[in-house]
Amino acid sequence: MKHKNAGIKKIISKNEIQKKVCELAKRINKDYYKKDLIVLSVLSGSVVFCSDIIRKLDVNFKLDFIKVSSYEGKKSADKIRLDFSSDYDVENKDVLIVEDIYDTGKTLAYLKNFLTEKKARSVAFCVLVDKKIKKKSIVKIKYCGFSVENKFIVGYGLDFNEKFRGLPYIGALGD
Ligand code: IMP
Ligand code: MG
Repeated sequence: MKHKNAGIKKIISKNEIQKKVCELAKRINKDYYKKDLIVLSVLSGSVVFCSDIIRKLDVNFKLDFIKVSSYEGKKSADKIRLDFSSDYDVENKDVLIVEDIYDTGKTLAYLKNFLTEKKARSVAFCVLVDKKIKKKSIVKIKYCGFSVENKFIVGYGLDFNEKFRGLPYIGALGD
């Protein structure tokens, strides 16, 4: 079934994204030269961004995936659940987590803690979009693509009920 893109307002173009990907990859190449890099793509939203990033890397790396989801805890505090993680050993490795959105920060804080417990040598974040909202958990984002107002965004891997992931640009959902 076809989905309509009507009602989506383009906020970041394909060209702007590609330019940013090149900038970020250039910095990653410089920073991870001679390191033991694991690029950890957070499923599913970061897959498009991550696949663009890795094709610009000229340092050695291993690609891995992790999947988490948030759910409502009993006392209304949202919790993060681990849905998938490979059993690859990250001990003494330099992990670069590639994520789509830094929203409340809960997901990223969970991932940082998860990898630190697994004794990663370093854990850093490469995030496509940082949303301008009050964070519940604050983490340091080493590589940040764009900072956007608090709107629900889709495209370039980001979905709304699994739709719009294939758009080549980032857009905001209308009301
Ligand atoms: P948080 O930072 O733990 O609040 O969660 C961020 C996660 O929520 C991201 O990894 C996205 O999967 C999802 N998310 C948050 N805002 C949006 C959005 O505007 N569009 C699509 N997914 C979103
Ligand atoms: Mg996500």
